Amino acid sequence: MKLKLAIAFALAAMSAQAAEQPWMDKSLSADQRAELALKAMTQQEKLRWVMGHFGSDRDQHKKHPAALPFSAGYIEGVPRLGLPALFETDAGLGVATQASKTPRERTSLPSGLATTATWDRALAYKGGAMIGSEARASGFNVMLAGGVNLLREPRNGRNFEYAGEDPLLAGSMVAEQVKGIQSNNVIATMKHYAVNDQETGRFVVDVRLDDASNRMSDLLAFQFLMEQADPGSVMCSYNRLNGVYACENDYLLNQVLKKDWGYKGYVMTDWGAAHSTVEAANAGLDQQSAWEFDKSAYFGGALEEAVTNGHVSQARFDNMVFRVLRAMFANGVVDHPVAEGGKIDYAANSVVSRIDAEEGMVLLKNANSVLPLKAGAKKIVIIGAHADVGVLAGGGSSLVYPIGGNAVPGIAPTSWPGPVVYHPSSPLKAIQARAPGASVSFNDGKDPVAAAKAAADADVVLVFAQQWVGEALDAVSLSLPDNQDAVISAVAKANPKTVVVLETSGPVLMPWVEQAAGILQAWYPGSAGGEAIARVLFGEVNPSGHLPATFPASESQLPRPKLDGDPKNETVRFTVNYHEGAAVGYKWFDLKGLKPLFPFGHGLSYTQFAYSGLKSSQKDGKLSLSFKVTNTGAVKGKDVPQLYVAPLNAKWEAPKRLAGWDKVELAPGESKEVSVTVDPRLLGVFDSKSKTWRIAKGGYKVLLAHDAADAKATSITVQLPQRTLNVNGK
Ligand code: BGC
Repeated sequence: MKLKLAIAFALAAMSAQAAEQPWMDKSLSADQRAELALKAMTQQEKLRWVMGHFGSDRDQHKKHPAALPFSAGYIEGVPRLGLPALFETDAGLGVATQASKTPRERTSLPSGLATTATWDRALAYKGGAMIGSEARASGFNVMLAGGVNLLREPRNGRNFEYAGEDPLLAGSMVAEQVKGIQSNNVIATMKHYAVNDQETGRFVVDVRLDDASNRMSDLLAFQFLMEQADPGSVMCSYNRLNGVYACENDYLLNQVLKKDWGYKGYVMTDWGAAHSTVEAANAGLDQQSAWEFDKSAYFGGALEEAVTNGHVSQARFDNMVFRVLRAMFANGVVDHPVAEGGKIDYAANSVVSRIDAEEGMVLLKNANSVLPLKAGAKKIVIIGAHADVGVLAGGGSSLVYPIGGNAVPGIAPTSWPGPVVYHPSSPLKAIQARAPGASVSFNDGKDPVAAAKAAADADVVLVFAQQWVGEALDAVSLSLPDNQDAVISAVAKANPKTVVVLETSGPVLMPWVEQAAGILQAWYPGSAGGEAIARVLFGEVNPSGHLPATFPASESQLPRPKLDGDPKNETVRFTVNYHEGAAVGYKWFDLKGLKPLFPFGHGLSYTQFAYSGLKSSQKDGKLSLSFKVTNTGAVKGKDVPQLYVAPLNAKWEAPKRLAGWDKVELAPGESKEVSVTVDPRLLGVFDSKSKTWRIAKGGYKVLLAHDAADAKATSITVQLPQRTLNVNGK
């Protein structure tokens, strides 16, 4: 009887809520719910959703009292209507904290480039799911993660946050991360939209890129991401594109994103990227982030007045709010409120990070099978990069403060875009644990002579080399800083059994490439990086990472041998002309016939793989390719077979494009059939006038390759009919 009464009361309460707050009805669509909630709001309540507050003190402004401490941002909710506030955190590698003496210590994934180097979609998803869960447990329901700016400029200080130079690879890998994050009922953020490809002068630079080239390169990466993952929000970037700031750029926001691609979420500014009220609102900006960074609270009272005066229509204003609400309903932010203090399984999350790091490490060179390290080595010498205590992280807003603190505190810059942080995962200790019988010693690598002396009689020498860059700070050159080239060279001369382990944001030059026996690209390897490096070096993990970016042989090979802009003067507007258009990375190298140091897609294994039986089929206008991969070596391993398409007659921006790949695990002697369907946009050229993708009739060579410069790639020729596809490739 009691139970019946309780149920009756509960049902009555629910139907009362349904009558009063119909947007809480989960059976309705996100669109319907957002529409209903919007209708119930006063103009003042609506205004809350379009203007964000910083989660930390800034200049004379104190942090919003309700924001989580040292967080990126906060948007007031409407509790009266059951609509929660938005708590924003950076970003792509995990839960970051703004500058603070008491930061949240959380799990850091390896860099975005490392995750991309896995070429493993499932791993990218798992990493996203892990950091999203830590975000939720920390009280955040918006994660500013989903960075997909193309690696057009290898010196870009934020390349480590992104996903490399190819639009298909970058868009697909970050899409998985975004899906993983959003699986926690946390909104993710596709950023920095768009063509924000260098940090030097990011607030004043005007980048020039024509529409067709953009749609086939930078924008295509965003388009793939959006289609595959449907991120709740998009962050517009600092730079201008073709003369207009990205956050008030009608072409980028209204035309491309919302109209052509049909994006349904909301657009927020980057922190300090708002420049106007009326222009921005009418150009498609929906939310001003952390207004304290801008010259004015553009989307506060000024917007209210603009709506009253009709400079911004009520319909447009309502749509701004609607988009935020819709993203909240669509991603479960309303139905699953967040709270601080959730439980985090750091041990389990560290394993997720470690596996990601291991799978993303790229074995660049392995002469005479110097790796994996042999059991029985008596003397191992480790040199440089504080490898005795930790592994390097990149700088800026994405920095995840390590659990257990910075392994090497005090290195300049100690403030923005610092601090320089090392995750306390010691490569030395992890190596020692795997070589119990050996003497393992450390030399700091500061002096080439001392390092060479320490290395001379070792069975194997592991030189750790590093390059610290970060947000707002491009690499001044692609050369390793601090005399490290001289150290590596001296050590390799003293002992030919030298293996170099690189902890860099992205590509670097290697004047010692011929001297070093082995080279392992470890990127910024995250919370468990030391352990991950040791496991790869000792062969507990067979390396399977492949480069998501071309490593040039010299800066003179780049479209811009010198970086544009002046890092010492960031106030004067200047232009960067992306004259290479859509020929980014390997496409540029192909086009110009340049031989890189290591090509896009390159990555060795402790085993070998062979390909056979490449064939094609076409159904409903879709090109599919299938083939067989065989492990021809003696150990288990994972391979990344890559398919490139090269037109025989049609004119593309470059000789070939990546059209697909897979990652397959194979035991020795084992074979697997792989099949890949090609997105038709990758077979056509964008026509700006008609906003269509045009595939030219004719022959196309399909290459099945180990990397973008594989001279032994097998190939077939396919005939494609003429086709015209809409702006979304349909
Ligand atoms: C960065 C964004 C970041 C924001 C909030 C900006 O400086 O460009 O990527 O999300 O700060 O911290």
